Amino acid sequence: MAEEIKSKVMTSDAGRPIGDNQNSLTLGDRGPIVFEDFLLFEKMAHFNRERVPERVVHAKGSAAYGTFTCTNPDLAKYTTAKVFENGKKTPTFLRFSTVGGEKGSADSERDPRGWALKFYTEEGNWDLVGNNTPVFFIRDPLKFSDFIHTQKRDPETNLKSPRMMWDFWSLSPESLHQVTILFSDRGTPDGYRHMNGYGSHTFSLINANNELFYVKYHFKTKQKIKNFTRQEADHMKSVDMDHSQSDLFSAIEKGDFPKWTVQIQIMPEAEAATYHINPFDLTKVWPHSDYPVIEIGELELNRNPKNYFAEVEQAAFDPKNIVPGMGFSPDKMLQGRLISYPDAHRYRIGVNYNILPVNAPKCPYASYNRDGSMRFDDNGGASPNYEPNSFGGPTQDPKYTERPTTYATATVGRFDHREHDGDYYTQPGNLFRLMDAGAQQRLCENIAGGLGQVEKRIQDLQINHFYKCDPKYGEGVAKAIGRDIKEIVKDEALVSA
Ligand code: NDP
Ligand code: HEM
Repeated sequence: MAEEIKSKVMTSDAGRPIGDNQNSLTLGDRGPIVFEDFLLFEKMAHFNRERVPERVVHAKGSAAYGTFTCTNPDLAKYTTAKVFENGKKTPTFLRFSTVGGEKGSADSERDPRGWALKFYTEEGNWDLVGNNTPVFFIRDPLKFSDFIHTQKRDPETNLKSPRMMWDFWSLSPESLHQVTILFSDRGTPDGYRHMNGYGSHTFSLINANNELFYVKYHFKTKQKIKNFTRQEADHMKSVDMDHSQSDLFSAIEKGDFPKWTVQIQIMPEAEAATYHINPFDLTKVWPHSDYPVIEIGELELNRNPKNYFAEVEQAAFDPKNIVPGMGFSPDKMLQGRLISYPDAHRYRIGVNYNILPVNAPKCPYASYNRDGSMRFDDNGGASPNYEPNSFGGPTQDPKYTERPTTYATATVGRFDHREHDGDYYTQPGNLFRLMDAGAQQRLCENIAGGLGQVEKRIQDLQINHFYKCDPKYGEGVAKAIGRDIKEIVKDEALVSA
């Protein structure tokens, strides 16, 4: 690609030196502007096109570059991925975000936080696009757009709507686990440095003997968990809308580099079929007592981007980006996301989003995809744009072929996930029970803020769900919205009060 030559004299976009960047070209000193003022029109037209569409979710975000250092000598047992060789340092780029708000919304909103981590490995980019929570609200991607609509603005009022949220959640009890985390203290983290990250889905690792292990990724903050109370988060919205951005940026500028301990949980392939929990259900965790965490390394963030638009706004993370020695899993949500993200990037940034500097691999790469809008590199030059060819173009290497996967069932159908697993209550109940009394009380009060505003029939349905997680949970929420639990939970035998 031709190197850009920096000029000391300001020029037009086409390189013509500019003599006056202060005054438009007019007929006389008071006169109208003449049509040939190309500089004025070029500036105005470019300005009108400065925005790309904001991300449909996770629009507000902050990012930094860093390093992942693998510190575990035993990972060859599980994978051939070079990123997991002991002592290997891999450059990374991590974008944090809130989910539901627009690009200008406040950082301290109650919301999950996005955790999109790109590893520029020597075998291609690996993107782990997770959240600060280990679970999610839904477990079928068919429901994603419905769910997200409830987190956005009401079509009539253009306001955020607790009614839409609680209506959907009360009719989708698989959301209870994530809802419990969202309304707990961890729903309003004090900036991005003081929270954990999770890959959330189940992925897989494959070793040199072609053995497969299912894996979950955890990133534990070394800065310690720190959260805002509801009141502090609300206050922060009026003091500093961009608290998380300024906190992250200034810590890195000062050399106070945030760090996370990286851990995995490992499940041998055969155990997935008999494990008492569906290991591919994104609304559930693998309890640590069943699958303990194994420490594998450290992630450090140590460099701020120089240009927010070029590096953060144009960043594109794809859950489909994995490297040799890794695989996906049958998790339906993950499968849906494999298609959704590249499609979103093509719409938001354009078909050549992959070759933008922040997204391009840092290792040699060579595909036969060519042309398309804004192809700004040499587009493959004179080399062949088809394969097979006899002119020395890149060829496939069978050693990278995906490991064949055998699935137990060959029946295609729309299987009702509610019929197959109706236990929405055990894990959120476990989470509620591990909170101390103060945290339980704050959880119930945080829920009451929105739930207290909606129709009683929605409150009733939702409180029955909380009650099934733990009677104290249901009772706490009922009390916080000024309702009598005995009017809500009809089965008297269930009411512990
Ligand atoms: P453990 O006691 O071994 O683990 C409890 C986990 O809960 C810890 O990882 C802790 O994170 C985390 N935690 C504590 N408070 C909150 C909160 N308010 N919101 C979210 N996470 C919190 O128990 P189990 O593995 O049996 O899990 C029990 C429950 O803990 C689960 O049902 C789930 O809700 C939650 N959890 C479990 C995780 C897992 O992978 N097993 C991961 C995260 C949460 P930390 O160490 O950072 O304090
Ligand atoms: C962003 C779709 C579930 C984490 C996005 C974007 C889309 C999307 C379209 C915007 C991408 C862009 O314009 O760059 C979906 C669909 C899902 C789903 C269809 C379910 C079927 C999840 C889950 C997680 C997650 C379960 C976390 C575990 C993120 C993150 C971003 C994001 C972190 C922001 C990425 C960035 O920083 O650029 N999602 N999503 N999403 N999603 Fe999802």
